[in-house]
Amino acid sequence: MDGDKVQKKPIRLIAAVCNGRGIGKDGQMPWDLPSEFQNFRDHVLGVSRPGKLNLMIWGKLCWYSVPKSDFPLPNVLHAVLSTTLETVPDHAHFLCPDLDSAARLAARPPLSDLIETIWVVGGTQVYEDALKHPWCDLVYLTDVMADFDCNVFFPEFDTELFKVQEGFPDVPTGIQEENGIQYRFQVFKKVTGVDD
Ligand SMILES: NC(=O)c1ccc[n+]([C@@H]2O[C@H](COP(=O)([O-])OP(=O)(O)OC[C@H]3O[C@@H](n4cnc5c(N)ncnc54)[C@H](OP(=O)(O)O)[C@@H]3O)[C@@H](O)[C@H]2O)c1
Repeated sequence: MDGDKVQKKPIRLIAAVCNGRGIGKDGQMPWDLPSEFQNFRDHVLGVSRPGKLNLMIWGKLCWYSVPKSDFPLPNVLHAVLSTTLETVPDHAHFLCPDLDSAARLAARPPLSDLIETIWVVGGTQVYEDALKHPWCDLVYLTDVMADFDCNVFFPEFDTELFKVQEGFPDVPTGIQEENGIQYRFQVFKKVTGVDD
């Protein structure tokens, strides 16, 4: 149906998750870990050469939780997912009704020659849909080794299908510590690779 114009792009999830899989509380991040956040930025904003771009996919609440003084971000386009918004939010580039529509934007002309990686940055439903998407190959999860009061959670996922993979040069190894909170970076790789 897509013909030969679809250039599949890797879909990668990135999240920091505390004990109990918590990721958020009342629309905010539950912790303050600047170095962990810098690692997030390094990944989502990283491209192989000038002129290339990544696509970030955001749920509506995530998008509105980020101060707009943070934008624009270099090397990325932003797609916000919503079934109720009618116009593209300020500073975003696309409004899409579901994850697959956003992914296919990146995979077709005119964006397909520009976009390298699709980064899915939450929240829960967006992560859940991305984990099931056939183009999803990697899940970057920071294991925040502490308890926080959360009311938003990272979805359960199949750890037989996504297995911890070591040896990514851009992923620091070992236990990190900041503001008295220990954490470690982990990458889960889909064992079956990327499907059609
Ligand atoms: N720790 C981390 O790494 C991390 C990462 C990301 C977010 N967070 C935290 O997570 C919280 C926000 O996440 P959330 O799950 O509450 O909200 P969210 O996913 O950002 O926003 C929910 C809304 O986005 C739209 N949406 C979400 N998934 C969609 C989909 N697949 N297709 C179409 N529309 C979709 C829907 O809007 P409509 O109702 O308009 O359809 C939905 O009501 C915040 O606390 C944030 O700080 C933490």
